[in-house]
Amino acid sequence: MQPSASFPWKTEYTVGNESIDEQHRTLLELAGLLHMAVAAGQGYKIIQSAFAALVKYTDEHFTAEERFWTDARSGGVEQHKRLHRQITEELLALRFEGPYGVVFCTPNELTNWVEHRLIAHFIEEDQDVYRSLSQGAKRRRASS
Ligand SMILES: [Fe+2]
Ligand SMILES: [Fe+2]
Repeated sequence: MQPSASFPWKTEYTVGNESIDEQHRTLLELAGLLHMAVAAGQGYKIIQSAFAALVKYTDEHFTAEERFWTDARSGGVEQHKRLHRQITEELLALRFEGPYGVVFCTPNELTNWVEHRLIAHFIEEDQDVYRSLSQGAKRRRASS
């Protein structure tokens, strides 16, 4: 099975900016690796490292994207940042540290987050923001 098989890339996820789309693709691949690890009932170390990689990359992506929207002078950046924070908090909640140790999400809980929060964000807010940028702003970014 391919590592990315859990959450394959679909053309409808495309935002239209190569760098953002590439980052979104990587996010789905990392989420796919975590999904495989939890579905296979791997040990703590493997699941933890897959989880940490997804959390780290999600943070890097959101930071890069917020910089992009800000540089492109998009409206509603603050609202977009709030959404990123919510999505991040929901991701962090998929790892629970209780009195008897760490408990990770089930494969279904992860799928829910990926499909209803992460991918939904690509195809709703990210696409909307990118479409709303003026052509001039897109060109300015593309040539910088
Ligand atoms: Fe994004
Ligand atoms: Fe976003």
